[in-house]
Amino acid sequence: MKKKRPEGSLAVFPGSFDPITNGHLDIVDRGLAVFDRVRMAILMNPEKQPLFSVEERVAIIREAYRGNPRVEVDTFSGLLVDYASRVGASVIIRGLRAISDFEYEFQMALMNRRLNPQIETVFMMPAESYSYVSSRLVKEVFQLGGRVSDLVPPVVERRLSEKYGTPIRAGRVRGKRAR
Ligand code: PNS
Repeated sequence: MKKKRPEGSLAVFPGSFDPITNGHLDIVDRGLAVFDRVRMAILMNPEKQPLFSVEERVAIIREAYRGNPRVEVDTFSGLLVDYASRVGASVIIRGLRAISDFEYEFQMALMNRRLNPQIETVFMMPAESYSYVSSRLVKEVFQLGGRVSDLVPPVVERRLSEKYGTPIRAGRVRGKRAR
């Protein structure tokens, strides 16, 4: 009889996720089509000044994926490959939105391979409609009063509103009624 792997395949999807966008969620969905579990791993980076604390980012991701046991969230510091091997993941997922992402991602993937050849980086492309979406732009647009509801899950829009103390902007985009 074929032996079942105890926990199935696990891929780590690392990032800053400050905050998650629909582009990240799209990559998670694609990851779930290939791997049994996807673990979003938030880098604890004392050199960065994030908008959301690590705890807030964990809570946001938990809320976005409530009820989906195949998506996990965790934090890490130190080398990503060390984290991945510690948790039993042999794959790192990274999203590639455009050619401009490629150089940095390629360098990182090769460095990670040098550090640990057992761990493979898999690049996934989000839907074209997310090719211009980044956490940085979402924060900037929201802060300046723009509508981001098609770009982030509802929990992020609510948290942005609480963080900046500004209301969520409703309205129509290109003839579509905002949800
Ligand atoms: O969302 P980001 O900020 O583009 O994610 C970058 C991240 C977290 C994937 C990268 O900075 C990382 O892996 N940092 C951990 C430290 C490490 O392993 N450095 C060597 C990688 S070549």
